[in-house]
Amino acid sequence: MRTPRELNNNQIDVLKFIHITDTHLLDQPEETFHRLNTKESLEKVLSDSRAHYPDIDFFLFTGDISQTGTKESYSLFKSVIQNYDIPFYCVPGNHDTPKLLQHVILTCPDHSINVIHLGQFSLVLLNSWVDDKHHGMITQRCLRQLEGHLKNSRDQFNIIAMHHPPALINSQWLDELGLHNQTEFLQIVNEYSQKTLLICGHVHQEVDQQLDGLRLLATPSTCHQYKVNSKYMRRIDRPSPAYRFIKLSTTKSIDTQVHSIK
Ligand SMILES: [Fe+2]
Repeated sequence: MRTPRELNNNQIDVLKFIHITDTHLLDQPEETFHRLNTKESLEKVLSDSRAHYPDIDFFLFTGDISQTGTKESYSLFKSVIQNYDIPFYCVPGNHDTPKLLQHVILTCPDHSINVIHLGQFSLVLLNSWVDDKHHGMITQRCLRQLEGHLKNSRDQFNIIAMHHPPALINSQWLDELGLHNQTEFLQIVNEYSQKTLLICGHVHQEVDQQLDGLRLLATPSTCHQYKVNSKYMRRIDRPSPAYRFIKLSTTKSIDTQVHSIK
């Protein structure tokens, strides 16, 4: 995969990328997940987003890449993304197996945070995966590393990506499965709110929230979507694979648009 122009260019002040999340790939290409072929819907999203935005710098995946967490599902993921000559970054979700996902995307974080330096931007990849659970937690070790990174890069714009949202989204069942140490996380990040964007997955719906001046974006899945403001898990009847375009500039502007493929 090629290195984007931004990686080695400190002068760059605009970054464009596509946010993709919750692809829930299965083990075999023909398998379906609640009557939807998740491999095909990922392929649709990748090709539609590239057609709309041919000059993006990278794709960012925020977890639940696999539904099964198996080697086979990550081989399937690899077979799809290897058709694109552009960097892919990711964090693991509750359905993933971080160690196996790292075989496909080397920069996927596990026990440590991973910071990708992109000119005047830092892409901070956080692992919120908890073994055998569906909620999220960021370890103390990673919180201290995050704190250190933010302190030492005050002039950088930080894009912090994780699977679980560090905020309530008003759906009781999803809020119970959110990031369990969100208060501690937000205490660390809030000081840098003017130069930080939070991006997450897990919720299978669009979120654009301000948390004390800190912007949080979540994007609908490439497969099934959940009903908003729901006490229990409810899927929307007609799935529409989605992705989000994000354009950032160091003048603090954030342009973003969610695309749903009908
Ligand atoms: Fe999830």
